[in-house]
Amino acid sequence: MKDIVRIGMIGAGHIAHAHAEAWQKEATLTAVASRRIESARSLAERHGIPHVCRDANELLNRDDIDAVGIATTHRLHHPIALAALAAGKSVFCEKPLALDGSQAREMWADARRRAAKTGVQSGIRLFPALRLLSRLLREGRAGKIHAFDAHWSFDWARDPRFPLTWRFKRAEAGTGTLGDLGVYMIDAARWLVGEIGQVNAELAVYIPRRPLLTSGEHFGELRRLHREGELDIPLETGWVENDDVCQLLLRFENGARGSIRASRLHQEHSIRVDCERSSYRWHMTGDRRLMERSTEAEYTPVEMPEPPCDDTIVTNFLHNIRRDEDEPPTFRDGLAAQLVIDAAVRSHETGSWVDVGC
Ligand SMILES: NC(=O)c1ccc[n+]([C@@H]2O[C@H](COP(=O)([O-])OP(=O)(O)OC[C@H]3O[C@@H](n4cnc5c(N)ncnc54)[C@H](OP(=O)(O)O)[C@@H]3O)[C@@H](O)[C@H]2O)c1
Repeated sequence: MKDIVRIGMIGAGHIAHAHAEAWQKEATLTAVASRRIESARSLAERHGIPHVCRDANELLNRDDIDAVGIATTHRLHHPIALAALAAGKSVFCEKPLALDGSQAREMWADARRRAAKTGVQSGIRLFPALRLLSRLLREGRAGKIHAFDAHWSFDWARDPRFPLTWRFKRAEAGTGTLGDLGVYMIDAARWLVGEIGQVNAELAVYIPRRPLLTSGEHFGELRRLHREGELDIPLETGWVENDDVCQLLLRFENGARGSIRASRLHQEHSIRVDCERSSYRWHMTGDRRLMERSTEAEYTPVEMPEPPCDDTIVTNFLHNIRRDEDEPPTFRDGLAAQLVIDAAVRSHETGSWVDVGC
């Protein structure tokens, strides 16, 4: 089973190491390409990937590759995915799927036209407690869902001296925290509760200027160097072009209400779902158990019915290729999340509730 899907990775930065491990666990990782060949070489050496390609095109022209995994800056998701689909490959892409809804729509339409398999990274769907929550909500044990409230924040950018990487630039990243972190909670909201009909959002920049970036380090290494005080911090600064913090109010199509808050300046990861007969809450810290509370009772852990699964971010995508299925999350889910992001941006600009397009 493992050998029938041969993978080429495009992008060799921080998250690419996690991708390489996931691919190697479940498929055959054949080749890697990145913007700079040295990055691709270094990833290949570390993970024993047999072929290093000069660029994405060289990788896409290889006929010993069935599927491509994209782990680049957000700007490149759209052109690389379209090129990979045109080359006859299945495509797995990091979140957010694209820079905006029109790009995402084109990617999903092209994949459908070619009957290609697609996947979008949705690590949130792997947490055992959230899988259990998804099942309990689907079974309706707690009754109608009233509200979904989620925080997804990592404080790596709290220090104003953290440099101006591509994540702060619209051309390379699109939105800021909204597309980088909020997108996980948009995906969770759709997965756990249902489609989002309307959004009211505010996007805030708290640190408008940051020191220019003087090195080409990947995200994880930059964070390490910054944490350890080993980063050269120039006096020259540039503008932050996208949101540090986003907050969204949601109206779901099924009548539930919700909120999402995401930040790159603060730290919190939690999801809470309030239903007719009880409430559920989950924190990524601690023992990560799902907690439940009924009327006037204490929160108590919900028993996990089965041993936690050991799926990776690519399991579902490979499953869809091998069994010719289209289980979510596919590009369709990436598109749906992107449309909520677009609606949030429009809401921020107009100061009003905005319908999510379809
Ligand atoms: N970091 C995380 O914890 C994390 C978690 C989940 C998902 N993701 C997603 O994974 C993707 C990659 O993120 P990352 O954290 O791995 O980023 P990263 O460490 O900064 O790596 C960026 C990758 O994109 C390539 N790239 C192409 N054009 C670039 C440009 N103009 N500027 C900078 N890099 C460019 C880089 O090429 P070179 O190798 O040649 O530098 C590198 O391979 C994004 O979609 C992100 O949202 C990241």
